[in-house]
Amino acid sequence: MKKPEDWKLVCIGCGAAAETELPDSTCRQCGDLLEIRLSRGVDRKSLFETKGPGIWRFVGALPFSADIEPVSLGEGGTPLVRAERLASKVGLRDLYAKNDGQNPTGSFKDRGISVAVTRARTLGSKALVCASTGNTAASLAAYAARAGMNAVVVVPRARVASGKLGQAFAYGARVFGIDGNFDQALATVFDLVRKDSRFYLMNSVNPFRIEGQKITAFEIYEQLGRVPDFVVLPVGNAGNISAIWKGFKELRSGGVTDSQPKMIGVQAEGAAPLAKAALSGEPFRPLKDPQTVASAIRIGNPVSWRKALKAIGESEGRAVTVSDEEIMKAKESLAQDEGILVEAASAAPFAALAKLKLPQDARVVCIATGNGLKDLHDHGGNQRIETASGSDAIVDAIGDWH
Ligand code: F0G
Repeated sequence: MKKPEDWKLVCIGCGAAAETELPDSTCRQCGDLLEIRLSRGVDRKSLFETKGPGIWRFVGALPFSADIEPVSLGEGGTPLVRAERLASKVGLRDLYAKNDGQNPTGSFKDRGISVAVTRARTLGSKALVCASTGNTAASLAAYAARAGMNAVVVVPRARVASGKLGQAFAYGARVFGIDGNFDQALATVFDLVRKDSRFYLMNSVNPFRIEGQKITAFEIYEQLGRVPDFVVLPVGNAGNISAIWKGFKELRSGGVTDSQPKMIGVQAEGAAPLAKAALSGEPFRPLKDPQTVASAIRIGNPVSWRKALKAIGESEGRAVTVSDEEIMKAKESLAQDEGILVEAASAAPFAALAKLKLPQDARVVCIATGNGLKDLHDHGGNQRIETASGSDAIVDAIGDWH
């Protein structure tokens, strides 16, 4: 006989238990999002005594039995890099970048996608679908290939970084473009999974995605040797802030830690419906036409808005907005002061540091969510090459180093 599961799916709105996340990962009673509750608690021993690569060493905190064969490409276990030069520019002493751009397909999405594809395989799904601003598409395409499944991604036709699209094609996904933004792409995907049960939904409404992404909290705690005072990250569809907060909460409720970080969600000025609600105290209202240079977070109707506002509220954190100009300046500074190349969305938390005025001695972790190699068009490429007729020309052109 099959062992009863030691986790359950619960609605975050009305608290009703759900049998399954199928088809659209929302509650049959009230339509709100589902989350996974483990009945086994996490404790220090089960979490940190097993070593090994990536997220799957924490299988004790995931909704699977210990003998699960994961669909994995070695996701997680990314470096926590101290950023001293950047820290001194923004008046901090202890600043770190959790470099999730070093995941297998170059973004934090791999953590959650690995877990959700593993779940899809246990359900016998054959086709995986997501809406995406690019990174989820790339990640889903790779893990579907790894699992021998079909991948379908729906993207806003304009403004997806070409590197991300290229990844999706390279891994063999079918890519559909819509003449609209991410919010309309996600509505299309919801429609699709409700109509056609062959498709398994892979956006971060899927609570298995959140389980994979919560592991970031465990890694930060272990790498830092303590809970940071602040975790600062970009917010788009609002899955990652919800996930990382869930991870820190589980560490605390399992008695592993006795404190928690304040979660700071950063949005671009032109795409900030969540920050607007958090800052004004007014009810959340979706934004019709979000605009920002940070295409990954160009989202007006974040599906996990309620979870994200809870994360900010419960942790006594904040939301903040940054301009496109501030984002691009931070991206350059992160690359040139620290050697970390991120995409625009991932520079948003670093841009926010200048205006957050956090206490000088605070331990601050910014999540560098995605690798800048996917989106290099801002840097000018060939046009910026300087002409050198020989070595003397190079010496002349450079002059004195400052
Ligand atoms: N940073 C990057 C690089 C992203 O790609 C995303 C989201 C976020 C931050 C925001 O994370 O949605 O969990 O709040 N990208 C999605 C995608 C929407 O389709 O790749 P979130």
